[in-house]
Amino acid sequence: MCGIVGYVGHRSATDTVIDGLRRLEYRGYDSAGVAVVSDGAIALEKRAGKLANLEKVLDETPLALAHIGIGHTRWATHGPPNDVNAHPHTGGVRRVALVHNGIIENFMELRERVEADGHELLSDTDTEIVAHLVELQVQSGVDLTTAMQRVCQQLDGAFTLVAIDAEDPDTVVAARCNSPLVVGLGEGENFLGSDVAAFIEFTREALELGQDQIVVMTRDEVRVTDFHGRPVEARQFHVDWDLSAAEKDGHDWFMRKEIFEQPRAVADSLIGRRTANGQLQLDEMRLADEELRDVDKIIIIACGTSFYAGMVAKYAIEHWTRTPVEVELASEFRYRDPIIDATTLIVAISQSGETADTLQAIRHARSQRAKVLAICNTNGSSIPRESDAVIYTHAGPEIGVASTKGFLTQLVACYLLALYIAQVKGTRFGDEIDEIMEQLEAMPGHIETVLEGADAVYELARSHAGTRSVLFLGRHAGYPVALEGALKLKELAYLHAEGFAAGELKHGPIALIEEGLPVLCVVPPKGRDQLHGKMLSGIQEVRARGARTICLAEAGDTSIEPYADDLIRLPKVPVLLQPLVAILPLQLFACELATALGHDVDQPRNLAKSVTVE
Ligand code: M6R
Repeated sequence: MCGIVGYVGHRSATDTVIDGLRRLEYRGYDSAGVAVVSDGAIALEKRAGKLANLEKVLDETPLALAHIGIGHTRWATHGPPNDVNAHPHTGGVRRVALVHNGIIENFMELRERVEADGHELLSDTDTEIVAHLVELQVQSGVDLTTAMQRVCQQLDGAFTLVAIDAEDPDTVVAARCNSPLVVGLGEGENFLGSDVAAFIEFTREALELGQDQIVVMTRDEVRVTDFHGRPVEARQFHVDWDLSAAEKDGHDWFMRKEIFEQPRAVADSLIGRRTANGQLQLDEMRLADEELRDVDKIIIIACGTSFYAGMVAKYAIEHWTRTPVEVELASEFRYRDPIIDATTLIVAISQSGETADTLQAIRHARSQRAKVLAICNTNGSSIPRESDAVIYTHAGPEIGVASTKGFLTQLVACYLLALYIAQVKGTRFGDEIDEIMEQLEAMPGHIETVLEGADAVYELARSHAGTRSVLFLGRHAGYPVALEGALKLKELAYLHAEGFAAGELKHGPIALIEEGLPVLCVVPPKGRDQLHGKMLSGIQEVRARGARTICLAEAGDTSIEPYADDLIRLPKVPVLLQPLVAILPLQLFACELATALGHDVDQPRNLAKSVTVE
């Protein structure tokens, strides 16, 4: 969950590390810190709060010039976010400085051992104990690499560790176990980052690290070994993203920029999916058609927004392929002893590819012999690497903590997967698949159309600045949209927001309706008469009890007009594809309302972009 940076080379280590932290701040922003080796000593500065607090201190009192350093931006797990708990941490004699992402599960036992040996620990963190353990090793005469190997063998849990030693000004040593870490390969310099955004300004060549590996990095060399020092091969890859892709492009928030990138992101996710003769192809998919044909059950596992994409996927996969699909929260999956075997396909959806709950769930599934297919936006991340197959979404870097283009591109990947299975299993004719592909290919244009109406949604959002509670209703594929709309509002505007399946209203939630309560209603396309009619009844029921209805309905649907206090028009699209356009006004609404309330839209309180702890 935290962001980690390491550097060795010819540049100013402090500046390079701070640059990297700026690009990783979305991972956590409770505190930040940097440590460098200069003149045989560790120089270190760290501060609670956002990176800006640390930068201010460094402007006033710069660290000594150095060419090797580490940095950290924290999302607190052990101990409150204050200066003392901020990373880097050092051992007792400040010879070793170390940063950490993850949780050391046996830290209480290690703490007792360290304290019994007479060491005083200053912070509440599990990290400081590791700094002490590594330092004790180097003090005993071994080099930093050996020290790291020995300590890693004592640790349980999930961790990325990056360390420097005051007596070795040339070497950064890092370890990776269940938490992300990538190496950036430069000329006469090398980098470490929790993801490639940390160093794309300087190099686009990167090395992917596996689990339980140690990387030893000098200016001119990068060596990767396992925890016992045995050399291992690391895969080198080229990063397609450039720096400008990670900047705001004139918008006030990354989130807003990312909302407006959605037509492009959806179009990119569809590129190259059809062969010259019109067959659907999924290049990166490493599952053979025979294996897919044998699949008799699909379980989709994911968290948060990705989970809602999975709910839409269930409707599409079952409808087009007649294969039963379950959708499950990754955090619940492995604790309920799920029934899975070699004919079950697990689909793990994750924008970041690093969500710990999802990662643990796929490990469990693979241990039960199920095949795992990842739908992921981040090349080189853990989830696709540990899966049997992957479909990459092509959203580009998503920096705003609230997922937007990540969600839309996940939906596209799910539709593609559903159609591909239909093609392989023969549950749909080729011309039906062609027709749906054409409808999908028209979606970027429809998304543009909805985004052109952003100003009206913004006005509506601002007029709700005094609201304390908002409900969202949907049916069928509109139900996950209602849930996602509510999640956006919760995480950004800190309002009570709940999504319901409209049919469930009368089973309880209707008791929440009171005079003036805003209710956002996702109305299914008119063509689906039954669904549409039932939704209209639900809207009338809440309106009759005083709710103020904001209805999202397709162009030309006049039947909704008498029941909508406010009406947002959506393009005419098939019901299964409607989430791709229906979610847009809800994203815009949440972004604008949070802005009007003065909240930090890109870094909402208590959240982090990538949740790498369970
Ligand atoms: O990276 P992932 O897709 O695995 O992340 C899953 C959730 O943590 C994520 O979608 C979260 O709910 C977002 N903040 C939603 O905007």
